[in-house]
Amino acid sequence: MRILFIGDIVGNPGRMIVEQKLPELQKEYHPDLIIANAENASNGRGLTPKLAEALFDANIDILTMGNHVWDNREILGYIENERRIVRPANYPKGVPGLGYTLVKVNQAQIAVINLIGRVFMGDYDSPFTTADQILSEIEPVTPHIFIDFHAEATSEKLALAHYLDGRVSAVVGTHTHVQTADEQIFPGGTAYLTDVGMCGPVNSIIGMKKEQVLQRFLTQMPVRLEVEQGPAMLNALFLELTEQGKAASIKRITLK
Ligand SMILES: [Fe+2]
Ligand SMILES: [Fe+2]
Repeated sequence: MRILFIGDIVGNPGRMIVEQKLPELQKEYHPDLIIANAENASNGRGLTPKLAEALFDANIDILTMGNHVWDNREILGYIENERRIVRPANYPKGVPGLGYTLVKVNQAQIAVINLIGRVFMGDYDSPFTTADQILSEIEPVTPHIFIDFHAEATSEKLALAHYLDGRVSAVVGTHTHVQTADEQIFPGGTAYLTDVGMCGPVNSIIGMKKEQVLQRFLTQMPVRLEVEQGPAMLNALFLELTEQGKAASIKRITLK
């Protein structure tokens, strides 16, 4: 199974480069499944139904989310009826949407799970025990399991990935918007990358206007952040999985 995972799509620049470059990526890698993190698609904050549809029309199969999932309230009703979007599974019980989804790919199935970290993030349920719970439901169904772990701290990302090594196909980090260079396959066969990066403006501070972010840091005053303009980059990860759900190859992608 061939999977392309696209990092946090930030605003218009992110969406435009994804729409522009995805056909090339499909030609080169022939992915069976395309997953993208869309928590910043709407002007850097959340996702709207209209933008979700546009991303599905651009051939993305599944959208994962993160801490910005509720920033745009239009998503609330939509996410309840959309099985192609997953929000962090370790949010409190009863919040709208799915924490994982099962997708048919060729003759097989894959589970796509979204989890959020707790270090420098928020007061969520444990991503470790939540993963255990979800795996007890999924393991009888399929060995193909992909996790987008939306987290700030490298140590928490590595810890979850090692905790799940051999039980899932991949643990890939999102949220920092900066791609790391530590892609690897763990001894148990789980693919890992601390952070896949973002699709968004290159000359920015994690996608947002530099002056506004700097003003926040310099003054400690609340400053509304807007997505930076200018040339964009696309960060992604390509994975090949065996029929047994083990990682066979892992490759980082950066396009400008
Ligand atoms: Fe993000
Ligand atoms: Fe985030």
